[in-house]
Amino acid sequence: MRDILPLEQVYWEKIRQVIQKNAKSYGFERLDTPILEEEELFVKGTGNSTDIVQKEMYSLKTKGGDRLVLRPEFTPAFIRAYLESGLSSCPQPLKLYTVGPLFRYERAQKGRYRQHEQANFEIIGESDPVLDAQLIQTFFSIIQGVGFKDATAQINSIGCRLCRPNYRKKLVAFYGKRKTELCSDCQKRLKQNPLRLLDCKNEKCVAISEEAPQTIDNLCPDCHNHFKNVLEYLDELEIPYILNFRLVRGLDYYTKTVFEVWPEEEEGGRQSALGGGGRYDNLVKILGGKDTSGVGFGMGVDRLVGLMKERQIKVFGGNTPSVFLVQLGELGKKKALKLFEDLRRSNIRAASQFSKNTMNTQLRLADKTKAPLALILGQKEALDETVIIRDMESGSQETVLLSKVIKELKKRIRR
Ligand code: HAM
Repeated sequence: MRDILPLEQVYWEKIRQVIQKNAKSYGFERLDTPILEEEELFVKGTGNSTDIVQKEMYSLKTKGGDRLVLRPEFTPAFIRAYLESGLSSCPQPLKLYTVGPLFRYERAQKGRYRQHEQANFEIIGESDPVLDAQLIQTFFSIIQGVGFKDATAQINSIGCRLCRPNYRKKLVAFYGKRKTELCSDCQKRLKQNPLRLLDCKNEKCVAISEEAPQTIDNLCPDCHNHFKNVLEYLDELEIPYILNFRLVRGLDYYTKTVFEVWPEEEEGGRQSALGGGGRYDNLVKILGGKDTSGVGFGMGVDRLVGLMKERQIKVFGGNTPSVFLVQLGELGKKKALKLFEDLRRSNIRAASQFSKNTMNTQLRLADKTKAPLALILGQKEALDETVIIRDMESGSQETVLLSKVIKELKKRIRR
């Protein structure tokens, strides 16, 4: 877990702004859920055999004996809220999003934090493949909005409750024959969660999985058509994707479409996914609702920030003020204090240091903020009801009436 320091905040603000703008334009409404949830929600929803539930939850017991966890992901919490608050009786599909912190007790490494932030988007209530495609489009629109033009989606379909059991059997038969060659984690997965064998990163297991039966050859006609349609819609939207038949994702609730979005690999460095998601047509039922489809994604905000910095993506509209207000003498300070309020009310971004009293110190500070203009209000100006506008780059100065300064500044800022 870490502090996000003031200088970093511009990246976070920029990403959150782009997320909000896209959420609005794609018709998503905001839903915020509590940071603490009942442990049972994730055991049932995320799945008992997943890494999240087995190894990564921060759990606690309250004085009253309730078992709670710091939420490790949003999806089950969204479905809980959907079922509890009557959202399930609103016209479907419901498009919901949020941004906020999640907690996973993971091994600390580059791009992986124990508190991370996700933007989470879900469409609940319908299974049409067009929704999967538009959701992936929403993901791309957000990352393009913050400056990434070179990401690619990896996509797969992992079937449904009709075709998956048969595929599982085939996988178990295939890996069972080579059990002794598998890593110890995979030997366990073979019993608990055979699909996860496909995305093991161990070199030997990767080599074996190249020959494993593929989901795509084992989908029922409904899943096959669904996947085909998703890909056709992605083609129509010109979203760059590759099929990755080893992509299964680490959470139990997925059915049919699963996807991740990856940035272009930087030389020498392994990147992590910017986000991922998929369809979950059984989750609402598992959590006590009616048979209801859903599809969603989680986008890693920390990773986006990390990559923006690595790639030196410029963020404008950050902390640079339009003017720095310099005051001198008791009367100057009083007038400046009032002028600062007038500037703020007129939406002119002003900076100042009212507790510093010398001209040189204040001009040096003005330089540091990179404000293009300074306003100087000394004893003389205060008495004359004027103020000096100084162009910080050229050093040229002009005296204007205090009553006209806002109009004059607006003209200059527009230029
Ligand atoms: P997830 O793949 O566990 O999916 O997380 C989504 C994204 O969150 C990851 O691709 C990554 O960018 C970011 N992320 C995850 N863990 C960390 C971490 N420890 N540090 C930094 N970033 C991290 C889910 O959570 C699903 N709930 C997504 C979803 C929504 N599926 C359907 N709807």
